[in-house]
Amino acid sequence: MSDRMLAVLPNALRPQAAQRLAVYEPVLRRLLAGLYGEHADFDAWLGELMASLGALYSARPAELRALDEQRAAQPDWFLSQRMLGYCAYVQNFGGDLNGVAERISYLQEMGVSYLHLLPFLRARAGENDGGFAVSSFDDVEPALGTNADLDALTTQLRAARISLCSDFILNHVADDHAWAVAAKNGDAAARAMFLTFPDRTMPDRYEATLGQVFPQVAPGNFTHVQAMGGWVWSTFYPYQWDLNYANPAVFAEMAAALLRLANRGIEVFRLDSTAFLWKREGTNSMNQPEAHQILQALRAIVDIVAPGVLLKAEAIVPTRELPAYLGSADARECHIAYHSSLMAAGWLALSEEGTSALREVIRNTPELPQAATWLSYVRCHDDIGWNVLRAEAAAGGHDANARLARAARFYTGAENSYAAGASFQSTDPNAAHGSNGMAASLVGLQTAHNDEERELAMRRLQLLHGLALSFGALPVLYMGDELAMENDESYLHRPQHAMDSRWLQRPVFDRSRWKGRDYAGTSAGKMYQSLIRMVRARRLHDELAANAPRTLLADAPDGMLALARGERFLALMNFSGQPQSYALQGRWIDCMDGNILAGAVTLAPYAMHWLERGAAE
Ligand code: GLC
Repeated sequence: MSDRMLAVLPNALRPQAAQRLAVYEPVLRRLLAGLYGEHADFDAWLGELMASLGALYSARPAELRALDEQRAAQPDWFLSQRMLGYCAYVQNFGGDLNGVAERISYLQEMGVSYLHLLPFLRARAGENDGGFAVSSFDDVEPALGTNADLDALTTQLRAARISLCSDFILNHVADDHAWAVAAKNGDAAARAMFLTFPDRTMPDRYEATLGQVFPQVAPGNFTHVQAMGGWVWSTFYPYQWDLNYANPAVFAEMAAALLRLANRGIEVFRLDSTAFLWKREGTNSMNQPEAHQILQALRAIVDIVAPGVLLKAEAIVPTRELPAYLGSADARECHIAYHSSLMAAGWLALSEEGTSALREVIRNTPELPQAATWLSYVRCHDDIGWNVLRAEAAAGGHDANARLARAARFYTGAENSYAAGASFQSTDPNAAHGSNGMAASLVGLQTAHNDEERELAMRRLQLLHGLALSFGALPVLYMGDELAMENDESYLHRPQHAMDSRWLQRPVFDRSRWKGRDYAGTSAGKMYQSLIRMVRARRLHDELAANAPRTLLADAPDGMLALARGERFLALMNFSGQPQSYALQGRWIDCMDGNILAGAVTLAPYAMHWLERGAAE
């Protein structure tokens, strides 16, 4: 099949393509044969796919092809401790894509090298789940700019050495995407892009074992659509229709859509909701082997056509299911995966003032294949989902539900807590689903009455960021957290958002905090400066690279996490409101203030030390 691709390439590109095809075409063919080999016209289909990849390869701009070569020669380029991510909604951060371009110097000031802009492609009119209901993969959302603006932005970001990451929402499309519109009009090929059932027989059978992502606002996984003649699979909101990946046309269309965006200069794809790509009766239709084969096939395509591009898995699943998304040495899958368990466990540790579940998560975090890493984060645009922690919360004979439900209550401000968040998709105080709120509000800044409380809240915010920055991952900051921005309640007045409390953590960038970021007298300035200090210290230590070894030190008290990175770096983090002591072996230098520490050290409530090994006396 390689010849079908080579045939459409200009002579100058053939040798390079032939080299990559020799390695990855057999992989791709094997994966696709596993998924679609039963189809009578499989060979013809694969030939067409290869020809389409060839056309997209030819269309790839020379500058991006040069970047591909550079990165293929250094495949671990994104594991450096100099990498730092930032995530924002376009509309909130810059107003539109041009406004984002105006903030590049701010990103550079922070040391950001990776910018995840939340969905900016044309979204469904009306409710659209913050852009996660895509109507066209080929057009920028008009409210945010034009395709030319996107091209200009990727060019400017590339010049600033910032990789643009875009969501690639591959599990579903909006019900006003051209495929959905054609399907509603009775087009058989378009209907086959979706999973439609004439009556409740199959939906009921599936529902018996499916979970629910939005049990309150979008219960069930199927939506009755008259024009489709039945029930359409819709895991998320009723207007987000799941694609039918058992249909090879879906795979081919989506692979091409991804490469067209890559050719616009998007360097990282956040593959949204990857866990749900394949459905199987009798299971929760998550993490199915075929979902992994689809991702591996996409990876092989990227390895052939655009090896400078990174794939990032968004799979909010239990820790044990996560490593599979990063593949193995012989089955390459995504380059990056969200470590949602680590994120949630950090918040659980704060609420419990103990690190047992967090340690369990770290113990359950395996070594990764080469050139793959976790994404670490404190907050994102979604809720803190507690369900991913069920196994770790049950360790040691605990009642996981009680424990996680308590954490969920804690972050609403119950349980005598300092937090000012909201429960997500659950009104039952004895159940755990998710928690929402900006980090600063969840750590108590919003409710702090005096300097002492503010100081403790600030330490908690720094502590969670310290964990994300020292864990060994690609850390991604969430817009506003660097300035300790608090909850935004305004969503309650917007009818299309009021039912979804995730909007609590989707504020508009606060320019006045930003202007005051140099004044340590404000929370914004204090947070910003301490974060910048951490980012700078991190850059200086090779031990903090994503792939450098990590060891959990078991001799720390339960309130504290002691994480060694290699032989020369140690992070001590006190998750409790009580002072905690730790006996250091040897002499250590505090990376922030240069103080020398040895013997027993006591960490104040919620304090953190980043230590580098000092020379022996
Ligand atoms: C992902 C997104 C989330 C969205 C969902 C459906 O989980 O992060 O915001 O609601 O996918 O696209």
